[in-house]
Amino acid sequence: MGTQQPSTPGKRWPNLMPLFVGLVVVAEIAFLGRLDVVKNVATVHHWASTFHFPSTSVALEDSFASVSSSSHGAVEDDGGEYSRCEDWLEREDTIRYSRDFTTYPIIVSGAENQDWSTCSVGCKFGSVAKRVPDATFKLPQQPSTAVVHRSMESSKYYIENNINVARRRGYNILMTTSLSSDVPVGYFSWAEYDIMAPIQPKNETALAAAFISNCVAHNFRLQALEMLEKLGIKIDSYGVCHQNRDGKVDKVEALKRYKFSFAFENSNEEDYVTEKFFQSLVAGAIPVVVGAPNIQDFAPSPGSVLHIKELDDVESVAKTMKFLATNPDAFNKSVSWKYDGPSDAFKALVDMAAVHSSCRLCIFLATKIREKEEMALQFQKRPCKCTTRSGTVYHLYVRERGRFHMESIFLRSGRLTLRELESAVLSKFQSVNHTPLWKKERPESLRGDNLKIYRIYPVGLTQRQALYSFRFDTDADLGKHVESNPCAKFEVIFV
Ligand SMILES: *[C@@H]1O[C@H](CO)[C@@H](O)[C@H](O)[C@H]1NC(C)=O
Ligand SMILES: *[C@@H]1O[C@H](CO)[C@@H](O)[C@H](O)[C@H]1NC(C)=O
Repeated sequence: MGTQQPSTPGKRWPNLMPLFVGLVVVAEIAFLGRLDVVKNVATVHHWASTFHFPSTSVALEDSFASVSSSSHGAVEDDGGEYSRCEDWLEREDTIRYSRDFTTYPIIVSGAENQDWSTCSVGCKFGSVAKRVPDATFKLPQQPSTAVVHRSMESSKYYIENNINVARRRGYNILMTTSLSSDVPVGYFSWAEYDIMAPIQPKNETALAAAFISNCVAHNFRLQALEMLEKLGIKIDSYGVCHQNRDGKVDKVEALKRYKFSFAFENSNEEDYVTEKFFQSLVAGAIPVVVGAPNIQDFAPSPGSVLHIKELDDVESVAKTMKFLATNPDAFNKSVSWKYDGPSDAFKALVDMAAVHSSCRLCIFLATKIREKEEMALQFQKRPCKCTTRSGTVYHLYVRERGRFHMESIFLRSGRLTLRELESAVLSKFQSVNHTPLWKKERPESLRGDNLKIYRIYPVGLTQRQALYSFRFDTDADLGKHVESNPCAKFEVIFV
């Protein structure tokens, strides 16, 4: 890992550091302001293209020849030319960055002191003498410090958690449950929930359990509960609303005895999915959800979650519950992910939390600082591609989601395809014996041995885009992206 990161440049840097860091952060904030407009992939492409370096079409034959003096005139096979091209690009595209994050870690103030030593980039929370923080959770002392807003509450209750509102209020970086926020903070993780806990006998007479303690909510969850009762669904209610069971129980242990669990959130907001849902999965009780309109994105497998999108759905959901309750095979099918494992989509989602959100914040900040520096004039002369008589070699960078350092990969013209990209990524990570981030996090039964690619996407996309909406539709799309983003950077999610 990290082959492209040079060692610390000489001793003359430390004096200039504070000034430089300040400049970078000022530039970064200007940049973050622009992120505002990033609403979809189309604009991301536009935004990505603003990074683009001026024409990199160096007279390649010449510059190439100049670094490989032994070869002029000689007729080489393609493989030889290509691999010399790759060596040359590896050298010429290298940037000696001015800030070494090992010596000068990302500093985030306004939070409890903590050294995130397992983070793949230097990352320190708290204040550090003589260092201007890169970001802060409090009002900034220095205008050059990015302001972070972090909250796990629904924006229906805390309006500043709405991304657009928060941006307007001057927050530069958002950490909310929204997968469209800069650094999402979810309720889910393998560490917190024993998601693959075995199913226990469903020996309660009531079909479903409910734990609702806030009887006023910004949605229709109580009406839904009442309607279900009227439709003959027997419910054990442990929370203060409609309570008919003693609430002093271990919630997950209690849920395990029920076929269904009411995961009724206090608001219906995209990606706002709390412990109510994940505890139901642990318990192997089919979640009946009032909440996130996109709850199916969080389902461990298709057909494993019942969703009451609106009150009109209550009747059909009640019917489905009755059917599943009286047909053991059908019920078993709905929870089959407990035996066969959840979908790749679910693993890819939950794996995001394998890296702590504080570390992900530091990676986000460090990435912006690097990108700023790459826009400096002296780095815009990087060739990023190399043309020989037999074709062009493109230099791309790729890292695993959740890590900072990039690996080099190369694609050739004529083979600028999605399949070649995947195969180049796979062989690169295999060649360095890469251990995916989830290896230590997932339950034993979900740790495969092979590296399998789930998604590859340009660095800078949100997790919502990366996991759900972004795709290079065709090889031509990929080609266009590579051509218009010299030394294009990607992230890969392994499952
Ligand atoms: C259901 O089974 C569990 C053990 O699996 C037991 O502790 C519990 O008392 C049983 N509940 C009922 C209502 O039978
Ligand atoms: C449910 O299905 C799994 C296989 O997916 C099987 O191993 C298990 O025995 C089944 N349980 C019941 C109660 O049918």
